[in-house]
Amino acid sequence: MDAIIQRIRRSGPIPFDHFMELALYGEAGFYTNARGAGRAGRDFLTSVQVGPLFAFMVARTIDREWRALGEPDPFFVVEAGAGDGTLAKGVLQAQPECRTALRYLLVERSPELCARQRANVELVDVALLLGPHGQDPQGFETELIPESGVGPLCAQSSELPATVVDGVIIANELLDNLAFGVAEFDGSVWHEVRVGLNESGGFAEVLTPIGERDRAVLRETAPTAVAGNRVPLNRSLTDWFVDAARSLRRGAVIAIDYIVSMETILQRSPGWLRTYSEHAHAGDPLTAPGSRDITADVPLEYILSAARSAQLAGGELQTQQVWLESLGIAEIAQRAQQHWDTHAAVGDLGALKARSTANEAALLCAPGGLGGFVVARFVKAGI
Ligand SMILES: C[S@@+](CC[C@H](N)C(=O)[O-])C[C@H]1O[C@@H](n2cnc3c(N)ncnc32)[C@H](O)[C@@H]1O
Repeated sequence: MDAIIQRIRRSGPIPFDHFMELALYGEAGFYTNARGAGRAGRDFLTSVQVGPLFAFMVARTIDREWRALGEPDPFFVVEAGAGDGTLAKGVLQAQPECRTALRYLLVERSPELCARQRANVELVDVALLLGPHGQDPQGFETELIPESGVGPLCAQSSELPATVVDGVIIANELLDNLAFGVAEFDGSVWHEVRVGLNESGGFAEVLTPIGERDRAVLRETAPTAVAGNRVPLNRSLTDWFVDAARSLRRGAVIAIDYIVSMETILQRSPGWLRTYSEHAHAGDPLTAPGSRDITADVPLEYILSAARSAQLAGGELQTQQVWLESLGIAEIAQRAQQHWDTHAAVGDLGALKARSTANEAALLCAPGGLGGFVVARFVKAGI
């Protein structure tokens, strides 16, 4: 909070994305303090935290991508925004077919969450995971050929890899947490929403002229805006996609998120911006920075444009429900339900597990809830 106040005192009102960056990832930021996804005692529930079924389905997707690439070894899974490592743990427990080829990199920028990953997965040094390595019979480093059949190996990093790998980059609920600016339309021109200080030293919004680049983007993507509409300015999205594409020699980028059209953003305005704390909506994003998550629907138009800038092809979009069905979740749920129906009276561990699986499937596929998330898949040209 003090750091934000100092910043504003030094430089004047700051764009909303600068405020969000500090509120979530700065000193005493929400994620810096290891707040975030999880059940009791945490702040919001993601598909990952619903139970092990989501990771089981992700393991199937990983195998599908591995086969599409011709079963390379090593095969890299880069999980961006990996949180406390729950998804990685579940994927490994699901024993994917690619496991002996699998090198799983958990990319997470919160050091505190990285520390928590250690309780969920066994980690090796990132250089060992990424580096091609081999040894001649005398034990000296020899020509650097990636060793095969040594997976699964896991490591952690605060950034996407600088080396180029064959594999898949997967991000569940990351894009909505990349800092975004906010623009407001007054009926004839767009303004940038900045955060300044009011007379009593609290945070207050200030509208300022918007830059030419953002104005051009909004002219193209939000031509139907009416006075009072607000939209996000996802200026860091392109950088993330460019970095992701740069990390891949061959493979796919899969982002699962609250993705909607700009038209929907305009209709929901300003409700597309949300805050969460302790499993409840947390109100004004400017209040007590660090105490609440700040998140938003992500405009599809921005994602497609970012992927184009990164020279990614594809742009296959499905709801989470359709994506999970394509991976066989309906059959898993049906089997689980049948088991529960016939064993409920016994009430043993198997029956309870079956009931839990059926419940998880329903939650993950619920059209008005997690099932309505969008799974966007792009590929690095060549596969
Ligand atoms: C909403 S949480 C999702 C966590 C997890 N993927 C899940 O579904 O439960 C977003 C996570 O992304 C992390 N994050 C945000 N920006 C990041 C970046 N540029 N690189 C890596 N992690 C990032 C945050 O620290 C946070 O842990």
